[in-house]
Amino acid sequence: MYTDDPGQRALLELLSITPSADNSQPWRFHVKPGRIEVRYRTVPGDVFGVGGHGSLMAFGAMRENLARHIRFHGLDVTLSEFLTSDTPMTLTWSGELPASQPLQADIRDRHTNRFPFRRDALPAPAVAALRNETLNAARCIVMLPGDGLKRLATAVEQCSRARFRSHELHDWLMGSLRFTSDEVAAGDGLDISTLPLPPGGAQLMRWLKPWSRMSALNGIGLYRMFAAMEAKPLLAAPAVACIVGPDSAAGTLDAGQLAQRIWVMANSDGFAVQPVYVLTDHRSRLTDGRVPKEWSAEIGDALADVDRVLNIGSGERLHMAFRIGRPTRQAPRSRRLPLEHIVVSG
Ligand SMILES: Cc1cc2nc3c(=O)[nH]c(=O)nc-3n(C[C@H](O)[C@H](O)[C@H](O)COP(=O)(O)O)c2cc1C
Repeated sequence: MYTDDPGQRALLELLSITPSADNSQPWRFHVKPGRIEVRYRTVPGDVFGVGGHGSLMAFGAMRENLARHIRFHGLDVTLSEFLTSDTPMTLTWSGELPASQPLQADIRDRHTNRFPFRRDALPAPAVAALRNETLNAARCIVMLPGDGLKRLATAVEQCSRARFRSHELHDWLMGSLRFTSDEVAAGDGLDISTLPLPPGGAQLMRWLKPWSRMSALNGIGLYRMFAAMEAKPLLAAPAVACIVGPDSAAGTLDAGQLAQRIWVMANSDGFAVQPVYVLTDHRSRLTDGRVPKEWSAEIGDALADVDRVLNIGSGERLHMAFRIGRPTRQAPRSRRLPLEHIVVSG
């Protein structure tokens, strides 16, 4: 048993349900007397790393979970500066943690829904509430039909074309997909049933696992078909909420925290939410020179148009886009790794 303190166990459970890209859960918790250290855990095929944008977004989301939990239960828990390098984020408390700290339903109910959404408009008060949320300089821009969603969808399609031609991103996605019930039960990665695939789609994805096959079919344009499938739901979206803010590590943690706040809020109001991260990820990849030269001009143009349509200022970036609407079906819930696998005593 990693800890027999029920108060600490409640905190660990809360930390572990944080969302992460492809449900990779890049963290490990070190339980020590009077404190829990959250450390980065390199996952197989890791495409982000400790200071990577996707990692910081997830750790920002964890900070929001903690803030809500601490506030709700009136806990006397202090959080150190957040993880930006190899230094852990540390939670400390004095005295005993209260034994019973049930997780708030809204934190537990937050989830990803990748299925089609209803077309009806978001009620004006819901849009206003999303637009109202800010955290330091991070803010939420809500795009409605007619506001330029077509331009966002075009950029998603362009970036997705690059994504489905990237060997590295192919291996990352294929390494994340979970096909059998045993694989799903292990608790990480993407359960194939959470993806909106046509009949035979799961078998096709499994067959496509070796890059040699994907790459051969890309020769006859498979990446174009996949990219069009990624972009299409945005064209039909009742709303896309875009988290925009400073392009820095601290700005990204704030954006991750704000994104989680908006996600929890939208789900608890009955809306379905799907993160669309391909634009943000390709901005990072372009900046780091990880987009092949032959596509970089195209990707650069697509992302410049996103900056224009969202009115993104200099020194800022798009941190996350969320497709939001009323669900047409409940999405299967992703699991998490058992705490025994990611908690270390001492
Ligand atoms: C930084 C980040 C990027 C993500 N990008 C995407 C994405 O592009 N598409 C998608 O469908 N889900 C995306 N997700 C959602 C995760 O896959 C999801 O949170 C994870 O699988 C856990 O599932 P849950 O949200 O249902 O708990 C992203 C999540 C995070 C934190």
